[in-house]
Amino acid sequence: SSHFAIAIDGPAASGKSTLARELARRLGLVMVNSGAMYRAVTWRLIEDGVDLSNETAVVSALEAMEIDCGVDGLSSTVSIDGVDPGEALRSEQVNGKVSQVSAVPAVRERLVALQRDYLKTADVVMEGRDIGTVVFPDSPYKIYVDADEAVRAQRRVAIGEVDSVADRDRDDSQRKTAPLKVAEGAVILDTSDHTIESGVDAALEILRSQG
Ligand code: C5P
Repeated sequence: SSHFAIAIDGPAASGKSTLARELARRLGLVMVNSGAMYRAVTWRLIEDGVDLSNETAVVSALEAMEIDCGVDGLSSTVSIDGVDPGEALRSEQVNGKVSQVSAVPAVRERLVALQRDYLKTADVVMEGRDIGTVVFPDSPYKIYVDADEAVRAQRRVAIGEVDSVADRDRDDSQRKTAPLKVAEGAVILDTSDHTIESGVDAALEILRSQG
């Protein structure tokens, strides 16, 4: 493919979404929020009352889902069976269950394929947990975003998610399939002492050194 991906990975509330969005805006690239896809599948499974601890049930519900990923302006979109879950993606219920669903290999396989499809039509900034390790391991552009625990705690309050973040980070880092970790070739960007602007500048510097 002639298109490229900038991979942005890191834990929750590290500042990676803000960084990815601003990078995409500055560079005129499509910003793909891969977490929204895991959240959308989780939302649908909860809506359908699927027992999330029953992997067989999760996989058969997944197989019945139509998952559409697209672009609106410069941002990715996701809908399940024709419905965009919107605000429900960030509900407490989804926050509490998404790590369990995203640990299922069949879920990851399906969504990783959809994530790679974006490169058929666009250059992207994609943020997630395994973008540099699994989705686009050959990309030269990889940043691992992190921040101090205290700073992340403040940001959790700002994004309205206080309780489940530590659990999600633990589960996302400890799972067998595609755990959160620093990808080979990734540069770590600690955003603790950065403003949005200076963080973007630091990221651009990293990308220049990788290109
Ligand atoms: O990025 P966000 O915090 O919205 O992601 C929600 C959850 O989706 C993560 O906690 C993780 O369980 C899952 N996820 C993942 N792989 C990605 C992106 C998100 O497993 N690439």
